Amino acid sequence: MSIHSPTRRDFLKSSSAALGGLALAPVAGALPSLAVHQQGSGTIKVGLLGCGGRGSGAAFNALAADPGVELVAIGDVFRDHAESALKSLQASEVGARVKVAPDHVFTGLEGYKGVIAASDVVLLCTTPAFRPLHLRACIEAGKHTFVEKPIAVDGPGVRHVLESCRMAKQKNLMVVSGLCYRYERKKQQTIQRIQDGAVGEVHALQCTYNTGGLWHRGRQPNWTEMEYQLRNWLYFTWLSADHGAEQHIHSLDKIAWAMKDEYPVKVVASGGRANRLDPKYGDVYDHFNAVYEWKSGLRLFSSCRQWAGAPSNDVSDWVFGSKGKANIQAHQIWGENAWRWKDDGQPDDMYQNEHDVLFAKLRKGEIINNGQYMCDSTLMAIMGRMAAYTGGEISYDAALNSQEKLGPDLATLTLDTPPPAPVVAVPGVTKFT
Ligand SMILES: NC(=O)c1ccc[n+]([C@@H]2O[C@H](COP(=O)([O-])OP(=O)(O)OC[C@H]3O[C@@H](n4cnc5c(N)ncnc54)[C@H](O)[C@@H]3O)[C@@H](O)[C@H]2O)c1
Repeated sequence: MSIHSPTRRDFLKSSSAALGGLALAPVAGALPSLAVHQQGSGTIKVGLLGCGGRGSGAAFNALAADPGVELVAIGDVFRDHAESALKSLQASEVGARVKVAPDHVFTGLEGYKGVIAASDVVLLCTTPAFRPLHLRACIEAGKHTFVEKPIAVDGPGVRHVLESCRMAKQKNLMVVSGLCYRYERKKQQTIQRIQDGAVGEVHALQCTYNTGGLWHRGRQPNWTEMEYQLRNWLYFTWLSADHGAEQHIHSLDKIAWAMKDEYPVKVVASGGRANRLDPKYGDVYDHFNAVYEWKSGLRLFSSCRQWAGAPSNDVSDWVFGSKGKANIQAHQIWGENAWRWKDDGQPDDMYQNEHDVLFAKLRKGEIINNGQYMCDSTLMAIMGRMAAYTGGEISYDAALNSQEKLGPDLATLTLDTPPPAPVVAVPGVTKFT
């Protein structure tokens, strides 16, 4: 099963879901940055940055969440992506509130500035590498954000986003993470039970994200090398962070959540390319296996792969304890406290839930800041990649303080900037920096 981006058809079918029972602590105090009109029933102006599959879905979710939301600006490096998303959204059941004037379709790598200026809430749904730059620009401009995962591709990027999230807290700005499982009621109920001791003392953890291949958008003769990489960003580590962070992050995040947001202190890993050998797949690996270790000595056995044609796939997250075991993804517990989630007939679309919560809280003048766990889970994934790429044992602190900055300077990037030549990491040769 893949839980990757909902298709356009999915977002068109999606409906506004009831709020989940999230324990989200509002930040106490005055709310100077909340414009008065956002509370109560006035219009909330939303801007979308990154008009791909997830961005289109997120914009739909935002519009479906609250009848006072209007989509007023969209931005994408590529005009064809922006126009295609706009057309789909206009044709959807929330199309009447798609109020994007022609001069509010922002394209190119500077387009983010226009989207941010026009919006109260910005949906950050681009390729991961740009998240630190875009998030900081939003916070500096006093805008609320929905922030897709992963939030960075390297240690400096995670540190930058941590700082932005601290700034957001000071300014009472929303930072809602796209780690969507945390907003799904059935996951919340499963995790709550694990946290309350349903499986007893936790002895071991395992998570797996084994899927098939993903899209490749080809190459056109008129594209520069930068345009080619941006359009096929999944396959370039400097843009995507590699699939252990881009996709398997969901599994790692669920495990960390079950562990009450205590994160592992170190990791050893291996990985490589066994299926995706064509040079068109850039420099990312197609499989990772990692053993994460907590301060207590508790271990997580984590594996993920993207192998087209492999006959068996699996997405599951296991917690093994003294009283039983749980599979978070299946919402089931076995043993002394056996339990299985039962469908109560209420909508529970995690993508919709996160927007329902975001706008409901905004209306009440309450703030959500998911900054810490979205940074920690991104770092957990990145440290696994660093361990696999180098063959070394990587600590959480070393990963966080890493000086390795992937890719060119994004603030001055153009489609003519030469991107890094793809070099597949070789454990034992590739160095940790
Ligand atoms: N939470 C989830 O379950 C989930 C599911 C799918 C994707 N995602 C995440 O959402 C993000 C987007 O994924 P997607 O599947 O929509 O990819 P996509 O390629 O379909 O869309 C990304 C869009 O961003 C645009 N873009 C890239 N850099 C940009 C920039 N600097 N400025 C403006 N636009 C830019 C691209 O042109 C593209 O249209 C990724 O971080 C991905 O990991 C999350």
